[in-house]
Amino acid sequence: MQAMSNTPAKMTIVSGIQPSGNLHLGNYFGAVQQFIQFTEADQDCYYFLANYHALTSLRDGPRLHALTRGTAADYIALGLNPDRCSIYLQSDIPEVCELQWILTTVTPMGLLERCHAYKDKAQQGIPSDHGLFAYPVLMAADILIVSANRVPVGQDQKQHVEVTRDIAQYFNNTYGDLLTLPEPYIPQSVATVPGRDGRKMSKSYNNTIELFAGETEVRQQIYSIVTDSASVAEPKDPDKSNLYPILKLFCNLEEQAYWQDRFRSGGLGYREVKQAIFERFMEKFGPARARRKELESQPEYVDAVLKRGAEQARKLSLPLVRKVREAAGIPNL
Ligand code: ADP
Ligand code: TRP
Repeated sequence: MQAMSNTPAKMTIVSGIQPSGNLHLGNYFGAVQQFIQFTEADQDCYYFLANYHALTSLRDGPRLHALTRGTAADYIALGLNPDRCSIYLQSDIPEVCELQWILTTVTPMGLLERCHAYKDKAQQGIPSDHGLFAYPVLMAADILIVSANRVPVGQDQKQHVEVTRDIAQYFNNTYGDLLTLPEPYIPQSVATVPGRDGRKMSKSYNNTIELFAGETEVRQQIYSIVTDSASVAEPKDPDKSNLYPILKLFCNLEEQAYWQDRFRSGGLGYREVKQAIFERFMEKFGPARARRKELESQPEYVDAVLKRGAEQARKLSLPLVRKVREAAGIPNL
């Protein structure tokens, strides 16, 4: 991984996913794949379920509860090894919310007004709540609480990591250098995975291909990728198609060249490409899907992983918050 080549010391890696829906290809290639790589490269890795963040879009207690444990099982099934990284719930680290409050007091309004989640809603005239406005400060707390150096995320989260750096700098200028400035880690080839309609794949656009949906549903999702009406015989531009960028995710360079050539030469029908995507998908995620089924009957195991993960994360969060409190003049017990 190029981000590590000139950094000899071990790095601390952190990232989270909101358990507000079912994991999809965008989450895997844009985030989880990199989570696994950092873990396998023996870095200090902290991966959590951002269940407080999820409250900004999901107001259904039982569903959030089920999705939270389910997403933890997804992480494990996909190959995140709980013996080599810490997997936990954001809500199990109370220091996160405490740090968030302190950070809000050094965060200028203008910085948050520029953040896209809130700004997009405001521009469309949709009322938003304080949670959505303050969302980037909570994300900053998630990152700063473990003194992370790198944050593997998709392109859509880059701004939030930059805001985290700004907030850390405001804090450090006010109270001294306690907070570590993190950098985003976004491999360009997977920065934005397109959805079935060509827009960014996202739970909120209903254009996903879900990692753990039933086989019939996965097939149906893949077969509903939007295509034009070009005939089989016509040559096609792979880069203008919604299919090629998704197929490409599963291909090495040689295979990419093969498919590009097939698109351009004509005689390639969209059904054949969809079938190829389906086969690649099942080949790649088949073992994870089987493991995910097994984990369904082992909720105690998943809970134990989360408990251990929270204990590990709190080894970092507690001392950090004590230093922050002390610097800000809040007494420690
Ligand atoms: P969604 O947009 O579906 O709600 P999340 O916001 O929960 O997804 O994203 C969790 C992680 O997955 C983040 O790091 C995000 O950047 C990444 N991610 C989500 N969708 C994509 C995508 N289409 N391409 C690349 N990365 C993505
Ligand atoms: N905001 C991220 C998303 O929607 C999830 C998230 C919350 C996160 N806290 C984080 C990601 C800290 C990386 C680091 O995808």
